[in-house]
Amino acid sequence: TPDQYQTIHDLLVKVALAAGDMVTTAKPQNITAKNNSADLVTATDKAVEDYVIGQLKSQYPTFEFLGEETYKPGMQLTSAPTFICDPIDGTTNFIHGFPYMCISLALTVDKLPVVGVVYNPYTTNLYTAIKGQGSFVETRAGHFAGQKIQLPRGGALPLKALNGSLCAVEWGSDRSGVNFDIKSALYTKLAASTEQGGKMVHSLRSLGSAALNLCGVASGEMDLYWEGGCWAWDVAAGWLILEEAGGKMYSGNAGEEVAVDCRRYLAIRGAGEGSQVTQEELRNEFWGCLT
Ligand code: IPD
Repeated sequence: TPDQYQTIHDLLVKVALAAGDMVTTAKPQNITAKNNSADLVTATDKAVEDYVIGQLKSQYPTFEFLGEETYKPGMQLTSAPTFICDPIDGTTNFIHGFPYMCISLALTVDKLPVVGVVYNPYTTNLYTAIKGQGSFVETRAGHFAGQKIQLPRGGALPLKALNGSLCAVEWGSDRSGVNFDIKSALYTKLAASTEQGGKMVHSLRSLGSAALNLCGVASGEMDLYWEGGCWAWDVAAGWLILEEAGGKMYSGNAGEEVAVDCRRYLAIRGAGEGSQVTQEELRNEFWGCLT
């Protein structure tokens, strides 16, 4: 019920803020590679996830839990209420001291997010959403401290075709085989001039956090975000924040249905008055760039 979602939202906010303090006071230690040398984990990722599990399990012992650091191959997202946790979304940034990452926490029911909380402890931007109630950003420090602003900030701007858009993409950690070929060809096509057969987007952005990319699209700071290869914990919270701000989540594979655990995603922001294209038209133009 909405009351329960509000209580869970408040708990996720409390846990995310405390986890943010754990990250900003930690040094990256015990850096180890998972599937390859660009797929990294630190002691802090694990410590934060342990903390999150302890907090959430003590309040909601019957709920399922899906977390990046406790995931084992074969684990599936089910229809049961499930907490989804990425303890550090942007581990590579954390390791390099690039001050941009977040704690991403969601509750899914029937495999869809109903509560989403994303907290970047460096910018102190706290993004939140409850299903049906809009999404918000609150900056905890600095000039905007204490103001809770509904997304998209200032209302949705007109949506344009790809040519003229600011588009988030990520390399992710999978750099081989057909996945690498798809990414390389797509990014070239998006960036190239129209004489080169490309779309000549205004630019591409790779800030290193899937959840923050989704919040950036929700906010209207970027027009779209595509990634192939990320996971349910990277997108669950940001998905709700995006959709509650009028954005749409589509599959990152042309013609497919999207699901929280489908691994390929295309996020498009809300379309304001005077838009040149609908979200579906922009999606179709983007899907046409995939080979
Ligand atoms: C990664 C980041 C990165 C994205 C990867 C994710 P992690 O999450 O979101 O931007 O490109 O696909 O796995 O490993 O830092 O939690």
